Amino acid sequence: MPVRSTEWEGVYADGPWLLTRNLVPGAVVYGEGLVREKGREFRRWDANRSKLAAYLKRGGRVWPFRFRSSVLYLGAGSGTTASHVSDVCADGTVTAVEISPRSFRDLLALSEKRPNLVPILGDAAKPESYGGRIGSADILYQDVAQRDQDGIFLRNLDLLRSGGIGFLMVKARSADVSASPPTVFESTKRTLSDAGIEVIDFRNLKPFQADHGAVVVQKP
Ligand SMILES: C[S@@+](CC[C@H](N)C(=O)[O-])C[C@H]1O[C@@H](n2cnc3c(N)ncnc32)[C@H](O)[C@@H]1O
Repeated sequence: MPVRSTEWEGVYADGPWLLTRNLVPGAVVYGEGLVREKGREFRRWDANRSKLAAYLKRGGRVWPFRFRSSVLYLGAGSGTTASHVSDVCADGTVTAVEISPRSFRDLLALSEKRPNLVPILGDAAKPESYGGRIGSADILYQDVAQRDQDGIFLRNLDLLRSGGIGFLMVKARSADVSASPPTVFESTKRTLSDAGIEVIDFRNLKPFQADHGAVVVQKP
């Protein structure tokens, strides 16, 4: 099937697959398939491995990622999703904060091939420790799977520019093992609204990512 553009800038599709254009042709990051067409190379973006791809598969409406965007990415892990964001924001910057030294090593190796990816070994709960290196981001993306994920997100909103877009990937079981996921999602939305932050989209990410929801906000 031919590769086609989608309504989301920098994201392509091939049949049921989402794709991003590979910034580092020939290199795979997590075993994803490569698709070559007319001298261009694309990487398959697996919604079962990436919550941002799952957000799109679930009909996500908000897509602020541009060629030159600056993104603050919290909880980058080994860089599965961050690598696709780095493909999309090819001429921008993806600052990726990760607390685990083991995952950080993978991120560091990834950044050696991807000049727009800037890894930081740090704690997203302490934005003051890396804030000075970031300035004001266009997009804040958080996927830390921590009990205090709402509070961490609110603190990092200081590093998002006015009018910027924030994505909070909520892991319901991290917040409260006994509450139902919809209850946790509602509680997160209320916490953000109470803090004066407008929630502009929400998607339950099942069946791609069980017990996860994507909350999207715009900073006033
Ligand atoms: C679900 S995994 C991230 C997967 C990744 N976002 C992706 O889609 O490719 C959550 C990550 O958050 C990291 N993490 C947890 N607490 C953190 C914190 N306070 N600061 C930074 N990273 C944190 C974990 O070490 C883990 O790598």
